[in-house]
Amino acid sequence: MLKYLKSLGMILLVNSRFFRLRSFISFSTKVIAGAGAKIETGYGSRVRDHGEIFLGQNAKLFLGNHATIMRLAEVVVTDFATLTLEDSVYIGSHSNIRCHKNITIGKGTKIAQFVSIFGGQYDYRKKDNITYQNFKPEDVTIGQNVWVGANAVILSGVKIGDGAVVGAGSIVTKDIPEFAIAVGNPAKVIGFRD
Ligand SMILES: CC(C)(COP(=O)(O)OP(=O)(O)OC[C@H]1O[C@@H](n2cnc3c(N)ncnc32)[C@H](O)[C@@H]1OP(=O)(O)O)[C@@H](O)C(=O)NCCC(=O)NCCS
Repeated sequence: MLKYLKSLGMILLVNSRFFRLRSFISFSTKVIAGAGAKIETGYGSRVRDHGEIFLGQNAKLFLGNHATIMRLAEVVVTDFATLTLEDSVYIGSHSNIRCHKNITIGKGTKIAQFVSIFGGQYDYRKKDNITYQNFKPEDVTIGQNVWVGANAVILSGVKIGDGAVVGAGSIVTKDIPEFAIAVGNPAKVIGFRD
């Protein structure tokens, strides 16, 4: 029975919802966790309503102090991968984070609504059906105090420097330097913050 519950992540669920009362995962957010998966929550961190968190085996989710994941967000961290949201990170509602290796979002960064962050992609070059292709996990690093506008898409392997701004609806395919303002599809730097 214990083994069964563990494989469903029930033990973890109990720990995360009742043990650490200073942080909070809404009851309406579905948490499914594989064996060995871990959630660590800092003081005042919040996961709001009707979201979904899927953690694979030995996957890790770190939420820093006052980190917030808003309602209806979907977070997937696959086997042995690690998603780190540092202190005061804000993830807007309906956002979608898929972590297959390491994704780190730095302190104070604000991710608006409907943003997608992808930590891997299929090796699509062979003509075979995509489902049967290798999946290549890659890191994504978003620095501190970044602002990502609504509906932006951050693709696998990208680094966004501290203080950068990503415009609404932009598709980030390449690294963005510190304090740059990047907009469009593909996102291009149009200036720098003062
Ligand atoms: C990036 C952003 C901050 C720039 O704002 P701004 O300084 O007022 O920019 P401007 O309107 O002066 O635009 C400068 C140029 O960039 C273009 N541009 C601005 N935002 C753009 C975007 N998101 N996508 C594509 N191009 C954009 C403008 O068309 C303009 O081009 P031009 O010089 O050829 O005319 C803003 O456009 C934005 O995307 N904000 C995000 C809002 C959001 O998502 N809020 C969610 C709640 S937190």
